[in-house]
Amino acid sequence: MNKTLVTGAAGFLGSHMVAKLLAEGRQVVGIDNLSTGKADNLRTFSDGGAFVFIGCDVADPEVLRLPELEGVTEIYHLASPASPKFYQSRPFETIEVNTTGTKRMLELARLSGAKIVYSSTSEAYGDPLVHPQDERYRGNVNTWGPRACYDEAKRLGEVFCYEYFHRYRVRVKVARIFNTYSAGLRNDDGRVISNFVTQAIAGDDLTVYGDGSQTRSFCYVDDTIRGLRLLMEKDAADGEIVNIGNPVEHTILHVAETVIRLSGSPSGIRFLPLPEDDPKVRRPVIAKAEALLGWKPEISLEEGLRRTISAYRERMQGGMRP
Ligand SMILES: NC(=O)c1ccc[n+]([C@@H]2O[C@H](COP(=O)([O-])OP(=O)(O)OC[C@H]3O[C@@H](n4cnc5c(N)ncnc54)[C@H](O)[C@@H]3O)[C@@H](O)[C@H]2O)c1
Repeated sequence: MNKTLVTGAAGFLGSHMVAKLLAEGRQVVGIDNLSTGKADNLRTFSDGGAFVFIGCDVADPEVLRLPELEGVTEIYHLASPASPKFYQSRPFETIEVNTTGTKRMLELARLSGAKIVYSSTSEAYGDPLVHPQDERYRGNVNTWGPRACYDEAKRLGEVFCYEYFHRYRVRVKVARIFNTYSAGLRNDDGRVISNFVTQAIAGDDLTVYGDGSQTRSFCYVDDTIRGLRLLMEKDAADGEIVNIGNPVEHTILHVAETVIRLSGSPSGIRFLPLPEDDPKVRRPVIAKAEALLGWKPEISLEEGLRRTISAYRERMQGGMRP
């Protein structure tokens, strides 16, 4: 049976990936140090059967000696804080997991012959001067600022992937993931959709940074997970960097107004100062993903927000806190 390793298994994308793989009948090993993830995200997977959980740090050299990883054929390296709120409070851990942690996972792939998908980010493009962004754009990243620990660590993680592909022919694929959302995000995650939906359901004003004219492209989690699965499966994607994101761009103000409308909330909008180095625009070109993977997103923002609002509502009415 195929054995798949998912790092960051207790996180947002990791737990969705584990659920998808188990539903396909795969054997899954999840690794997580529970720094930003929640054990609660794993509660529906019974540990010890098709799913085995290991609580440890992927950057730890002992990881390569874990007996549970014997026979691994696929690795999704998703471990890393992703929300600015979390990576800015853990800059050194963020650098470590994306550099040393990525090297460990590439080494595991080299030793075991496994394929590996590395979760890079649209933040590799920084505050882009080219719009929209395709994979050849080299980005505009501030190396001396509060986002650098994440953006630069991800870029260096990509360099490790490049070297392992070219030196050792490790079958590595790099996903530059753009903003992904759904109800799986923690209420206190600090990313825009979880903020807006939590605020709208509570009847609080939605906090928009700047004047709300900055844009983002939001991809519903099912579309992102399907893209990552195809990236793993397709041989043509070996040694490639591929944007995984929704090419439909919205202003943050439009997203706030849509959340208020769809949730029927009495909330207003409160404008706060724009954080330092916040990207002003963000939209992927997905021609490469379409050509290599036959992938494009299928779930519209309205549909994804409807699902997200109803799931958060259930969770908050059930008394669950972040
Ligand atoms: N969700 C998005 O919109 C998005 C966008 C771009 C890139 N990404 C990337 O996708 C990956 C998953 O993001 P997410 O949204 O699920 O984030 P998340 O914070 O919800 O999950 C990350 C998980 O990694 C775990 N982790 C962190 N450091 C670790 C370490 N050293 N060892 C073991 N586990 C560790 C955390 O505890 C957490 O469970 C990250 O690499 C992130 O950078 C996500």
